Amino acid sequence: MTTVEQRTGLVGQGVDRVDGPLKVTGAARYPNDFSYPDLAYAALVRSTVAAGRISRLDTAAALASPGVLAVITHQNAPRLERAPDSGLTAPPPPLQDDRITFHGQYVAVVVADSAEEATAAARRVEAEYEPAEPILDMGDPRAEWITDPWGTDSSRGDLKGALASAEVRFEATYTTAANSNSPMGLFSTVAVWDGDDLTIHDSTQWPSYLRKAIAQVFSLPEGNVRVLCPYVGGAFGAGLRAWPHIMLAALAARTVGRPVKLVLTRPEMFTGVGHRTASEQCVKLGATRDGRLVALAHESTTPLQIEGTQFEPCTAGSASAYACPNVITRDRQVRLNIPWCNFMRAPGEAQGNFALESAMDELAYELGMDPLELRLRNYSEDNPRLELPWSSKSLRECYEVGAERFGWSRRSPEPGSMRDGDSLIGYGVAGVSFFWYQEPCEARATLRKDGTAVVRSAVTDIGTGTYTVMTQLSAECLGLDMAHVTFELGDSDLPAGAAAGGSGLTAAVGSAVQAACRNLVRAFLDTVRDDPTSPLQGCTIDEVSVGGGRIHRIDAPESGEAYADILAAHGIGELSADGSSTPNDPKVAGMAPSGAFAARFVEVRVDPDLGLMQVARVVSVVDAGRILNEKTATSQIMGGTVGGIGMAMLEEIVTDPGTGRVANATFGDYLIPVNADIPDMEVAFVGRPDRFNSVGVKGVGEIGLVGIGAAIANAVHHATGRRVRSLPITIEQLF
Ligand code: MOS
Repeated sequence: MTTVEQRTGLVGQGVDRVDGPLKVTGAARYPNDFSYPDLAYAALVRSTVAAGRISRLDTAAALASPGVLAVITHQNAPRLERAPDSGLTAPPPPLQDDRITFHGQYVAVVVADSAEEATAAARRVEAEYEPAEPILDMGDPRAEWITDPWGTDSSRGDLKGALASAEVRFEATYTTAANSNSPMGLFSTVAVWDGDDLTIHDSTQWPSYLRKAIAQVFSLPEGNVRVLCPYVGGAFGAGLRAWPHIMLAALAARTVGRPVKLVLTRPEMFTGVGHRTASEQCVKLGATRDGRLVALAHESTTPLQIEGTQFEPCTAGSASAYACPNVITRDRQVRLNIPWCNFMRAPGEAQGNFALESAMDELAYELGMDPLELRLRNYSEDNPRLELPWSSKSLRECYEVGAERFGWSRRSPEPGSMRDGDSLIGYGVAGVSFFWYQEPCEARATLRKDGTAVVRSAVTDIGTGTYTVMTQLSAECLGLDMAHVTFELGDSDLPAGAAAGGSGLTAAVGSAVQAACRNLVRAFLDTVRDDPTSPLQGCTIDEVSVGGGRIHRIDAPESGEAYADILAAHGIGELSADGSSTPNDPKVAGMAPSGAFAARFVEVRVDPDLGLMQVARVVSVVDAGRILNEKTATSQIMGGTVGGIGMAMLEEIVTDPGTGRVANATFGDYLIPVNADIPDMEVAFVGRPDRFNSVGVKGVGEIGLVGIGAAIANAVHHATGRRVRSLPITIEQLF
């Protein structure tokens, strides 16, 4: 696809975030910053059993509490409809019956004049239960098993035969703990009704879907609902569903006839907005003596809540990570009485990569081969599952540049052989082949008579830099300075936007923005088509370029006209154009769409006497296609690396085995990395613009987390000789 934009060099530059000043001065408004006259507040009551029924619910004391306006339970809640599928089933609407399926499920919402009064009254709601024995263990014979939940299981060649005859065989089981998304910003909803019109401020990553969902729950035309989220404040996937608390805020507002604000508490964040599911994974590898993979089997089992779906493909990536003729990948889920599982940065991939890349390291030791060399020896030049060339792949360069920058050649292979004073030093590496994902998206570009442009799409910026990179891209596509372009997002009334999810937003909205800008230039050419005074009269889109606020002829750059002059000459206030994008089709394009690739190199230091373990250095080299902004892209990888260190060394949702209660639902008990846990992080990008979308990007949002777990585990083994096959790796496991 050709684009009209001039490659000005604007895109790619590490320009500062356009929303940075608003954020640091506190002017950026997050969902719970919105207030209204007569605002009321809601507080939630949660179940204290994981399974069973509510046998008695007494709200009299709560209703009599100061400031209380309403107490809504399943006994008095109106019937709500189920939200539509988003690809995944939506959580069922709350307070519709007396059934309990997990500890922490909402059983009542209290609305009062102040947040304190609502919270105090919520404690006075008396609930009794007829408990059932909860299913909390994957080994429970009562648990329902689901095989191949998403049709992603794969099989090629003759795995059994190849394993049986392999010169070297390796097999191990790996486990990962459940993790909590835990964005700093507590998820918040402010709901305001005006007749049958509903406005919702919410911590969502997907306003276009949330509008549809809430409209259906309340049986409203979609156009009656408006979702606003100009700033989200982190979400890491937690904002990709229409959660029950959002419905409760809207229901509460309708019930009391006033705007209502509902801010989840930190403990509620652990049970109300999803979590990364734990995993148990078995990897079997067969190889020749010289390190060529002949067999690869990866099977995973992950817990799932009692009803509804979740997409958590731990093994799918293993089908195309390496060139191997005989492969089986299989995912299974087991239903438990646990809070909802949901997307959390690199769903499935984060867990699956830990197992596969740990197993590759273990195989390298079996073979007496450098782990990096083993990976290069099994490099998949084409996508082995689709049997198509990759749309782009520079993973080899990631390994080479990473090894050079990290100093991999200084590594002595023997575990425990590298020391610095009292510290054992370990070097570990992991490769990452991230999945590809893209959704349809729309955008609109408008040029105003003062020569400035505004470009809009109902997407979100969850801290990833969407405002900034889309401003850069729009400016480039229209030939304007960044200062003359505004990008608007976070409003469901804007052209329908893709989710900020699956690392696919930049490709989706970027392609739509390019199309809208190109169509806008066309609209200007249409305007002057019959204008004999315009130097652009009769020009087609392919004959012009843009720059300096004007459109000019490619063959005669001095022949052109400024946008503002065209509008003035024709008495037009502003001109707009729409653009949309849909994902390319691999079969039609004749290539396998590439997600990003990366090589992660980690140095750990372990002091066995003091029981200290520290990640000392991380070098990440990433092929993410065309980089729109070096600074925000680097931030993405660094932020993901921090998340990866959390997953590898600290984060673990602990569920009380008797009751199914999340036992560590506070930041005092659920450990996340702090500054002292974070080492020097070096990030470099390699590769070329990708061919699968017109922008040339590959998602950079989630890959930063992936590979860190395996690289740390591999480094810990190199430092200590101890192989840890479960995350998080805590010092206790080493001694
Ligand atoms: Mo990401 S888990 O798709 O926000």
